[in-house]
Amino acid sequence: MSKYNVVAVTTNDYKRQAKQRLPNFLFDYIEGGANAEQTLQANTADFKRYTLRQRVMRDVSAVDTSTTLFGESLSMPLALAPVGMAGLFARRGEVQAARAAEKNGIPFTLSTVAICSSEEVQSATNQPFWFQLYMLRDRALVLDMLHRAAASGCKTLVFTVDLALPGMRLRDYRNGMLGGSTKGKISYLTQLFTRPGWLLDIGILGKPHSLCNLKHKVESASDLDRYKAFVESQFDPSATWKDIAWLRNNWSGNIIIKGIMDADDAKAAVDAGADGIVVSNHGGRQLDGVSSTIDKLPSIANSVGQQTKVLLDGGIHNGVDVVKAIALGADSVLIGRSWVYAMAAQGEAGVNKLLALYQQEIAATMGLMGVSRIEELNSDVIERFNQPFNNPLS
Ligand SMILES: Cc1cc2nc3c(=O)[nH]c(=O)nc-3n(C[C@H](O)[C@H](O)[C@H](O)COP(=O)(O)O)c2cc1C
Repeated sequence: MSKYNVVAVTTNDYKRQAKQRLPNFLFDYIEGGANAEQTLQANTADFKRYTLRQRVMRDVSAVDTSTTLFGESLSMPLALAPVGMAGLFARRGEVQAARAAEKNGIPFTLSTVAICSSEEVQSATNQPFWFQLYMLRDRALVLDMLHRAAASGCKTLVFTVDLALPGMRLRDYRNGMLGGSTKGKISYLTQLFTRPGWLLDIGILGKPHSLCNLKHKVESASDLDRYKAFVESQFDPSATWKDIAWLRNNWSGNIIIKGIMDADDAKAAVDAGADGIVVSNHGGRQLDGVSSTIDKLPSIANSVGQQTKVLLDGGIHNGVDVVKAIALGADSVLIGRSWVYAMAAQGEAGVNKLLALYQQEIAATMGLMGVSRIEELNSDVIERFNQPFNNPLS
């Protein structure tokens, strides 16, 4: 039987379906990483080096996957990571994902460069979303976004610090998304017409495609190229830890600093007053050659102890990966591509099924390890460092 006609049960099943629905340049934009994609590959591969400890006869009749994070009760230690332009992967994609997150009892993070605005997401959901911020040169615009997010009920800010400069995502150049060559533009337009379903459902009926949190700042509000140029000219490479103090003065909720890959930076984030950090290399999309996040997690978590919440993203494909990350020191994880593939493949229903599967997998894994509560997952339950393993279901 073809791999495409099966019931999707893994992130890679959704990925294959997403590849069939999306124009190639969009699929590559999601799938790709920076430069030679070494870090992208390591993020996933390194999870397979860790093995779990199996304990038996420990009464696991009431396994509980729930946890509390920043005062919110979560059905499991997982949140949807911010993903830019998600409204190009499914119609009003951010709204669909936020609804699925709410239904499954976990947070959704809205990107600075989302297609849907804070107000649009708020009006479609009851649960507060998390808002992700890039530091832009135009501080008045940053303040405007913060006020709008707060007015929309958001209490948790995810401040991304690993994008001082845009990473070199070579697939985007190859597909004509970046670089501005005529050959590239022709290639990009040709790819659009190979996916008529996408063209109608999202390309036409999914409009407007403007980056709605920024639209009053860009002259031609319907032109994505202008947005890209605007956003790239706005990333502020001069930002330092001092800017966190400015942010603190202008944001009364929690601040999570996303993009920490070094124990010294983790300590600096704590000193700057971060309520949480995300051990993240932007899904391998920024600095190629940096370690995988799962390999960095134990030393970073040890360096900050209980002073701040530690989250992790990068390479998580299933509930077993989540359990490993929690055991190695994370309080929670975020998933990026995993939810995007499910949404591009099957919309909100796909994200709902994916999240239900994550929870089932976390519960089954904990039960089979003889563990009933998330707090019991610690370094004692990770048994050894092993050779990478290839999953036959992938
Ligand atoms: C298509 C795509 C767009 C992304 N856009 C953003 C963004 O706007 N802001 C941000 O902080 N991170 C962004 N990220 C990074 C994710 O938040 C997250 O760190 C990463 O996807 C985690 O790795 P994973 O995809 O292996 O789960 C993006 C990732 C992808 C794949």
